[in-house]
Amino acid sequence: MSERYMKFFVDTADTAEIANLASTGLVDGVTTNPSLVAKTGKDFLEVVREICGLVDGPVSAEVTATDFPTMLAEGRHLAKIADNVTIKVPLTVDGLRTCKAISDDGIMVNVTLCFSAAQALLAAKAGASFISPFVGRLDDIGIVGTDLIADIIQIYANYDFPTQVLVASVRGPQHVIDAAKLGADVVTVPPGVIRAMYNHPLTDKGLTAFLADWEKTGQTILPTKSSPA
Ligand code: G3P
Repeated sequence: MSERYMKFFVDTADTAEIANLASTGLVDGVTTNPSLVAKTGKDFLEVVREICGLVDGPVSAEVTATDFPTMLAEGRHLAKIADNVTIKVPLTVDGLRTCKAISDDGIMVNVTLCFSAAQALLAAKAGASFISPFVGRLDDIGIVGTDLIADIIQIYANYDFPTQVLVASVRGPQHVIDAAKLGADVVTVPPGVIRAMYNHPLTDKGLTAFLADWEKTGQTILPTKSSPA
């Protein structure tokens, strides 16, 4: 049985947040999009270059053209930044054409803005490395986003597509849990959601109680001048 584990990508272009979370050893990659890059107020190519230096895993950088020839040129230009750059293209017919051409170049492609199983099937046909179904935005319009994840995983399991299911538009820890229960390959998570995953009031309360009781023993684990090893 080949080893499988869920990969965690950070969904932000904020390099300070990425550096901080990467130091935990929990980060397997980064996804950005034009809105996240615009928030930084920084030069796009510089931001991508900096992020690629912060994490070893895939770093998604999205083309902004909508026509195939220009999307292809932009993708190939972005790919020159670093070996771990993953070209992100929207799920349009021109995006699928670009996905096919760039994946044929041997460069990773993340097909984004996926909202249906039919779209996900075409992205796999186009050789996508990752498919990014947006669960939060489906929830926003009353459609259960994780149902789409289940459909995509079921479809992909029938074939040998290389495409990894990268759950995006994650709005809270429950989306991550639901994606993990379904066996999604990757979740891309805003920094705040990662923090919401590990923070729990009962953990804080329990730790405070442990340390208060330990304090009463007057002991230390490490040797001190008054209590040498
Ligand atoms: O990676 C896609 C993600 O950034 C979109 O999230 O919350 O804008 O739907 P959201």
